[in-house]
Order: sequence, then structure tokens, then C-alpha cells
Amino acid sequence: MFAIIGGSGLVKLSALESPRRRVMRTPYGEPSGALTFGRLAGSEVVFLARHGYGHTIAPHEINYRANIWLLKELSVEGIFALASVGGIREDLVPGTLVIPDQIIDYTHSRKATFFEGSGTPVTHVDFTQPYSESLRARLVQAARQAGEVVVDGAVYGCTQGPRLETAGEINRLQRDGADLVGMTGMPEAALARELELEYACLAVVVNYAAGKGTSRERIELGELHEVLDETMVRAVRILEQSVRDSA
Ligand code: HPA
Repeated sequence: MFAIIGGSGLVKLSALESPRRRVMRTPYGEPSGALTFGRLAGSEVVFLARHGYGHTIAPHEINYRANIWLLKELSVEGIFALASVGGIREDLVPGTLVIPDQIIDYTHSRKATFFEGSGTPVTHVDFTQPYSESLRARLVQAARQAGEVVVDGAVYGCTQGPRLETAGEINRLQRDGADLVGMTGMPEAALARELELEYACLAVVVNYAAGKGTSRERIELGELHEVLDETMVRAVRILEQSVRDSA
């Protein structure tokens, strides 16, 4: 069984057949909400809305540890994480679907590890390749089969939020090598690695990052939702294909 973490624009996976909700507790506190089990294109999956079902939890307030711990507890085969992002690289225009292969973490003050506290041995997990190559390949292949164009490989810069970035900050991110910018990619990916869960991200570009393209003067969040809805439909098609042939 695969897990899907839905981001902005995917609070509810309406393609899910016979959905069943289950509230679970964790030693790390409250997760973002109840888990929804159901069948997606014939395969059993579990869905979690990262920002809560009412979209009320801000990126820096998400209990990433509780969410990831729950999915480990369920022994999921892997996690497909959806994320809406701003496009920095010129070709990553709104409406583009991207499967990132690298991360730069600009977040701070988030609970970012399971390995802390008295009695826990100091542990440094390898994170050279932050995403699961096999799940990334699965997404790329699924997109091909579904006839959806995706960009394979990009650097995800994760900012703290909840405010959007300044144009100066985006320029700095670009000089650092970031191709897209979001607020929820970390510590989610690192926590999945700590618990040895396969994890890949399918990113939906919903706006030009600050200072770029039509966001030269400001980012219009109204337009953001329109692109998000349209592109999310395509993202779900890719996910349907990705979870096919899994137990
Ligand atoms: N910046 C950060 N996070 C985002 C953006 C952005 O421009 N768009 C969607 N999530």
C-alpha cells in the first residue's frame, strides 16, 4: 500500500473509492488529521492532507514527525508527496509538473529529526540523494503511460514561510541552484529517510516565484488557485498510474 500526502489544492482525494477515515495517535502528538484509506484506480492507498482537511495548518505548524511516524506505523510501501511550488527556473512556468531530485533546506525552528532526546543515540542518516530513485522512476514512467508531460529532475528550495519570498531571496535561491520553491518539502523528506521510508515528490508549479515572470511586482494568489485545480487533476492521473500494480 502506498501513501499519498496531499498539499495545497489536494485536501481531499475525490478519486478515492470506498473511503474510510481513521484517527490515529502518535508519540509525537497530533498528525495533520485523520488518515483516509481507500482504493485509487483499484489499488489500496492511504491519504493524508498535510495542511489538515480544512486547510488550516500552516507549513511551519505541520507536525511532520507525527505524519511520517504514522505512515511508518502502517508499513506503507512508499510515500508520494504532492506539493505546490513557485517556479524559479525559466522553463518551470505555472502548470508544469515536476519530479524534483534535490533539496536545499532553508527552513528553521521545525522539529526536523526523530533522533533526539535523552537515550537516543546520535544518528546521521545519509541524505545525498534525498528522494527515492525507484519512486521517482515510478512517477516518471506513470506520467509517460498517462500521457502527461513532467520535468524529471529539479532542485527544490524549501523556505520557512508562511509569507512568500522577496525577489531578492528568490535571486539568492536561484544562485544557490534552486529551481523551484515551496514550504513543505522539509523536514518531511528527511524524516521519511530517517525511518527508511521511500519518498518522492510530485510538484505542481502554481506561480512564478517572486520577481519572476508575471510575479515581477507581486504574486497574485487568486490566479494561483485556478492553475492549481487544473494541474492537480493531471497530478492525480499520474498518481493513479503510479499506484497501479501495487498490493
Ligand atoms: N514560494 C513558496 N512556496 C510556494 C510558492 C512560492 O512562490 N508557491 C507555492 N508554494
